[in-house]
Amino acid sequence: MFYLSLFCISSYVFMASIIKFSRVFLLFSAISAYTFSDYITPDFTASYLQFVDQSGTFLFSPNGTFKAAVFNPGGQTKFYVCVIHAASNTIIWSANHDAPISNSAKMNLNLTGITIVDDEGNLTWSTPPLKSAVSALALTEMGNLMLLDQSNVSLWDSFHKPTDTIVIGQRLPVGALLSSAVSDSDLSTGNYMLTITSSDAILQWHGQTYWKLSMALKAYKNSNYQVEYMTVNRTGMYLLGSNGTVTVFAVVLPVSNFRIAKLAPSGEFTVSSFSGTKWEQEFIGPEDSCQTPFICRRMGLCTHDPVSSRPICSCPPNFHAGSSNSAGCVPSNGSYSLPLACSGRSNSSSSVSYLTLGPDLGYFGNVYSVPLRHGVNLSLCQDLCSRNCSCLGIFYNNSSGSCYVLQDELGSIMSSDGDESGLLGYIKASVVSSATPHDNDADITRSQRHKFPVVALVLLPVTGCIILIAAIGLLWRRILNLSTTKDIKLGKFNSNSSRDMEAFLIPGLPQRFDYEELDKATDNFKTLIGSGGFGTVYKGVLPDKTVVAVKKIINMGIQGKKDFFTEIAVIGNIHHVNLVKLKGFCAQGGERLLVYDYMNRGSLDHALFGGGPVIEWQERLDIALGTARGLAYLHSGCDQKIIHCDIKPENILLQDHFQAKISDFGLSKLLSPEQSGLFTTMRGTRGYLAPEWLTNAAITEKTDVYSFGMVLLELVSGRKNCSPRSQTQSMNLSNSGGGHSSASSTTGLVYFPLFALEMHEQSRYLDLADPRLEGRVTVEEVEKLVRIALCCVHEEPALRPNMVTVVGILEGGIPVAQPRIESLNFLRFYGRRFSESSIIAEGNEDDSMMYPRFNISASTIRSGSQTGFSYISSQNISGPR
Ligand SMILES: *[C@@H]1O[C@H](CO)[C@@H](O)[C@H](O)[C@H]1NC(C)=O
Ligand SMILES: *[C@@H]1O[C@H](CO)[C@@H](O)[C@H](O)[C@H]1NC(C)=O
Ligand SMILES: *[C@@H]1O[C@H](CO)[C@@H](O)[C@H](O)[C@H]1NC(C)=O
Ligand SMILES: *[C@@H]1O[C@H](CO)[C@@H](O)[C@H](O)[C@H]1NC(C)=O
Ligand SMILES: *[C@@H]1O[C@H](CO)[C@@H](O)[C@H](O)[C@H]1NC(C)=O
Ligand SMILES: *[C@@H]1O[C@H](CO)[C@@H](O)[C@H](O)[C@H]1NC(C)=O
Repeated sequence: MFYLSLFCISSYVFMASIIKFSRVFLLFSAISAYTFSDYITPDFTASYLQFVDQSGTFLFSPNGTFKAAVFNPGGQTKFYVCVIHAASNTIIWSANHDAPISNSAKMNLNLTGITIVDDEGNLTWSTPPLKSAVSALALTEMGNLMLLDQSNVSLWDSFHKPTDTIVIGQRLPVGALLSSAVSDSDLSTGNYMLTITSSDAILQWHGQTYWKLSMALKAYKNSNYQVEYMTVNRTGMYLLGSNGTVTVFAVVLPVSNFRIAKLAPSGEFTVSSFSGTKWEQEFIGPEDSCQTPFICRRMGLCTHDPVSSRPICSCPPNFHAGSSNSAGCVPSNGSYSLPLACSGRSNSSSSVSYLTLGPDLGYFGNVYSVPLRHGVNLSLCQDLCSRNCSCLGIFYNNSSGSCYVLQDELGSIMSSDGDESGLLGYIKASVVSSATPHDNDADITRSQRHKFPVVALVLLPVTGCIILIAAIGLLWRRILNLSTTKDIKLGKFNSNSSRDMEAFLIPGLPQRFDYEELDKATDNFKTLIGSGGFGTVYKGVLPDKTVVAVKKIINMGIQGKKDFFTEIAVIGNIHHVNLVKLKGFCAQGGERLLVYDYMNRGSLDHALFGGGPVIEWQERLDIALGTARGLAYLHSGCDQKIIHCDIKPENILLQDHFQAKISDFGLSKLLSPEQSGLFTTMRGTRGYLAPEWLTNAAITEKTDVYSFGMVLLELVSGRKNCSPRSQTQSMNLSNSGGGHSSASSTTGLVYFPLFALEMHEQSRYLDLADPRLEGRVTVEEVEKLVRIALCCVHEEPALRPNMVTVVGILEGGIPVAQPRIESLNFLRFYGRRFSESSIIAEGNEDDSMMYPRFNISASTIRSGSQTGFSYISSQNISGPR
């Protein structure tokens, strides 16, 4: 990945040594300078800190294709000894996945093998006992980490103990399995498993099968031989038998030099190839994402958006969203709760009853499960379930009397197609005695529950944002899981006051305010100074006369206070001159408020689009640089990488002398994954959203870089990129240059980023500058900003520079690169959609216009949904221009 970000600026690599900020460059030179050694000998010790200059890398394969490192994926504080594919920075194997270590903890190689010890010296992982003494640790060009004896014979190797991935040449034999990781940054063992049987490859979740290779559309059966192993090679993925001479199943794929098969944290089994710049997903199972067991969590109902065919989560009839994001759906009737398997409480069968699912609702596993009994009546089937605490529900076929049981864990349900409709589901429920309060909802007040009828939230890849950013986010869910259980057991004894104690266990919390204090400070929330996706902002004055901005959070996930405190502690500890400082917070009852320093010049959108005095060019440069510095700090300056996810002029506040300060950072983590769906639909945000929000690509810091690029264009033009210009304005724009522009050809409406691309292609930069500046700009400076902006909005995230580089370019230390047109062609497509939707909307600033892609026809999205956005865009722009 690191290499990739260099493409935009690759011609300037020679500058590397003079750029003090850029760790990227340092890494680059470190690798090139490293004399590759493909083996090391005992006694050897490595920790991340020891090899910090090489990002923890202590061993390379002979040609450097793979490296072994003590590495922290996602920049988190958990370190793993792993094997990494160097060009894509992808972990293909990890040793201590269930026991992460710190950056100073050590991996030791000695005569008896490898050991990994934590800071206290406790053993956390080791290789098994070996037949003879180790003479070397080697990493092969295929990515196999091997312990060798004196005659270079393997004593142990990582290919025989795969984690979640196999690479070209690696074999996964019958009986072996891949286990998913919890997330891309938390490699501990998740709940999904791929196993190879003598006739198939199957995916399981808590013992429930949810996919078989033999039933996949793309898998061809070649013979009835017994399967011996699964492998991937340059032409596909195979189940082979008879010592590799017979193909049992083949999934034939385009020729590729590097390919992996991986069981992703989501439970999807994917085969992807790396083209040198990016990953291309070539195969996925299950094909229907609603068949992924936990996609909508416990009892969540997964359906497909009729237009985009993306999965959407809601709750089935008579269920509603539970109180926390891990709770899934719970019975709407408060006198029932869903038992956990053998949790103790569900044991008395007298209090069990069954909630009937509709005839059109099925379960992900029904296709693959085998009935427990045939020819029984429904009451006997239910009885079998009631008597067994591991049973959580049944499906019953009325015509055959087949009884299927759901065991151990309840996953998501889906609407059943015709084949399954003979099965009726009955979910086991415990009757809550009237003395006990409402099940898992103990933590929320009634008023909050009204505010969040969390139904039908679009499960966009946005979810990734929350999952990727934070190790805390993960901890988070665990804590929530725990606390849900606790709530059930403790019921109402879990009083508010004991909960609040938790706040004091979290170090680094900023000042805590009472609601009454803030109510008074803001004069009963009288002066509204802003509102956005997360809530409304009011001006206030504290008793010590400090002026503050008080943000009342409205769209926040219903989460425990502890999680809120944890996030607040993180945000509160980030101090940078270009970031708005969090002074304090309030968490009382259902209220969540944040107290910030007050910025006397308001937000950039007011200053830039508000019709006030024009912001001079130099001031715009200052704002651009300040914003870039703030973002660079969030991405690489603080302990935990923070992806903002919502960079836009409304979130860039100004202080005297146009010092820019970014607000709302860290708040994306306060949203639950489900609610992050809201996030993308937030009004006014869409024009700044990178394409990857709408595809399956991961949300990374490059997503912020895209938004920054869009803001930069608005700084240049002084207008909103996405708001339509009147006919005359755009005519002026086109006429002033005297040329014909396709950005405005259809309707006279301009999608500014496209206009910027076209003017860049014609080197007519001055046509882009805000006319209100009346020429008080130089063409060189406009060109520089436009070129940076275009590099930042490259469709391919890896081609966007990182923010540290952007700062370097703005400061002048790094020359500005040439934007890559092939990664900007999607703007032509956006632009056309924009002008088309503008005709329909006739100048109304409605959502469809803010983000043109929402108007793509259903068939376009469906055809493109598997292959990603590039496909759609190139398809649509390859027509007549
Ligand atoms: C083992 O491999 C190393 C490194 O390739 C080599 O230097 C050494 O001679 C080999 N030893 C034997 C016994 O083949
Ligand atoms: C990949 O493996 C299959 C099955 O063994 C084989 O038919 C095919 O030729 C192999 N492809 C390459 C490029 O080696
Ligand atoms: C269901 O079957 C069991 C045993 O076959 C029988 O005892 C019971 O009466 C049946 N119940 C109903 C409602 O038919
Ligand atoms: C409960 O059901 C599971 C799965 O059918 C079975 O393995 C287990 O033995 C059963 N337990 C009892 C007590 O019947
Ligand atoms: C199930 O079948 C029985 C008899 O075969 C019938 O009386 C009953 O109505 C059916 N129930 C449903 C829900 O179809
Ligand atoms: C229910 O049982 C009948 C009779 O055996 C069978 O034809 C039908 O396919 C079954 N339905 C389902 C969904 O399994």
